[in-house]
Amino acid sequence: MDAECIFQKRLERRHDELRWLYMELYGNDSMFAELCDNLRLFYLERNEALRVLDSERETDQGWYKKNDMLGMMFYIDNFAGNMKGVESRLDYIQQCNVNYIHLMPFLDTPKDRSDGGYAVADFRKVQEQLGSMEDLDSLTAACHRKGINVCMDFVMNHTSEEHEWAKKARQGDGEYMSRYFFFDNAHEPSMYERTVPQVFPTTAPGNFTWLPDAGHYVMTTFYPYQWDLNYQNPRVFNEMMYNFLYLANRGIDIIRIDAVPYIWKEINTSCRNLPKVHTIVRMMRIISEIVCPGILLLGEVVMEPEKVTPYFGTLEKPECHMLYNVTTMATTWHTVATRNVKLLKRQLDIVNSLPKDYVFLNYLRCHDDIGWGLDYNSLMKEGVKERLHKQYLNDYFQGYTGDSNSRGELYNADPITGDARFCGTTASMCGIEKAGFEQNDQAMEKAIRLDVMLHAYMFMQSGIPVLYSGDEIGQVNDYTYKENPHKAADSRYIHRGAMKWELAENISNPDTVEGKIFHSLAQLENIRKREKAFVSNADTWTIDTWEPSVLCIGRYYEGEKIIGLFNFSEFDKTAWINEADGEYLELISETEMKPIAVNIPAYSFYYLKKK
Ligand code: GLC
Repeated sequence: MDAECIFQKRLERRHDELRWLYMELYGNDSMFAELCDNLRLFYLERNEALRVLDSERETDQGWYKKNDMLGMMFYIDNFAGNMKGVESRLDYIQQCNVNYIHLMPFLDTPKDRSDGGYAVADFRKVQEQLGSMEDLDSLTAACHRKGINVCMDFVMNHTSEEHEWAKKARQGDGEYMSRYFFFDNAHEPSMYERTVPQVFPTTAPGNFTWLPDAGHYVMTTFYPYQWDLNYQNPRVFNEMMYNFLYLANRGIDIIRIDAVPYIWKEINTSCRNLPKVHTIVRMMRIISEIVCPGILLLGEVVMEPEKVTPYFGTLEKPECHMLYNVTTMATTWHTVATRNVKLLKRQLDIVNSLPKDYVFLNYLRCHDDIGWGLDYNSLMKEGVKERLHKQYLNDYFQGYTGDSNSRGELYNADPITGDARFCGTTASMCGIEKAGFEQNDQAMEKAIRLDVMLHAYMFMQSGIPVLYSGDEIGQVNDYTYKENPHKAADSRYIHRGAMKWELAENISNPDTVEGKIFHSLAQLENIRKREKAFVSNADTWTIDTWEPSVLCIGRYYEGEKIIGLFNFSEFDKTAWINEADGEYLELISETEMKPIAVNIPAYSFYYLKKK
């Protein structure tokens, strides 16, 4: 079939629904016709290699659910200086068993008002110091030759105040003002403020910014230099879809839709997760299926579980392919601090009961803070109060309570609500930083065990694991951000430090922290790749251990069964399980082990496979 034919067929299949949704939102025929014309142009612009990949993936729709999928996220400059540098480090990425890299925001952004790149000034230009669009083309092609998928952020909720549209809007050009939310007096902003919560209560209070030169308020949900786009304007939607497709055509495999719950605003609402957000995401999914069906949509929905899952859409009308397992992540650290797996077990049970087509990205931490969005209704039944508990968790991870070895800092501590989130690398939160500083070998050994156990547990969860670069060698907090006045107020930079390649040189030395962690993770990654019970849509469930500190997860796929036991306590514990259905082999030690009343050393784990 020739290209034109393929396009027409894909469009025909989805045209009616797309048109229906577009008309519901915009009722604008000519803009819809313009959109369709452009979809065709972007399709025709897509290179041959990508079109081949598209059709392979169209026939193998579960291509991303395999057990070898492992992600790693990093900032390009921190990881390897620039895009060319990343290209030269692909061997290391493969050595980490990683086949999906998330390149943190790399598009043009003002140097000092960038929010880590999440304030985009030009969606079609790479930050100069990182390279060019040609370098990106070359990097994605090099990745594809090695079977590595590339993920990038599509920051669609807002632009930088330096974006061409923003500059024109600021000069009073009505056409461009209508692409944002501009108000010449405080009336409407104050109406919004009544119902809209704050994202950065300390570092960027409020949801509007007064522009004295323009004599207007502009809506800025995040930082004052990130201007919210107005998707009620079809011009904004169309142009942003063209940007999205332009980037997809650079060979991007996974588009992370940044801050997606925020993209539709209405007065008298929280301006989060409104129904029209889903209309837009559904349209994006349809558009990508028409133009570039090989790509995946990853939604960034940092919300409670009942708000997250609707972003998968329905089986008939899917939206995102993948979402972050954010509540599980936060609950994991709650478990580390309390040595009690009850809440985590309940949380995993919720995730495990969802349709298997839902693919979650599992992670221990990312570039953002850890917000304590736990299931407080359940905790309350056990007498745990939200505010006090958050206080405890923040004290614990700052290393203030007696039995904590964690290091890290608060984030956006709100003096009014008493709320705060937390920042730190996995290694620092596990005690590696403290043990290293104190040169305490015993404490180090314990901290490494906790760190590895958490990874082993993460790999057992249903979905796809993603590492933060540096975690594979136990990199600790980086305090140098405090010396940069543009970063000092944002403690998220504590866990976004540059990759320490001199430490990575130790990965084959088993006497070093880096060697120990790297080797242990490699062992887990290889098991995961080899054992099909780790495919992301395997049956996954939890098993009661009758020991508060030990979590047990089972996985089953096509006749293969593996159970994982994870001891969250610094003491040896017994898991009172009784899986008397046959012989089992422990996969790390390769010894036989009966899954009946299993003794598990402090901060250790077992992977037991039924023979
Ligand atoms: C997302 C990003 C975060 C950024 C925000 C605003 O939540 O993960 O780093 O600050 O969006 O774009």
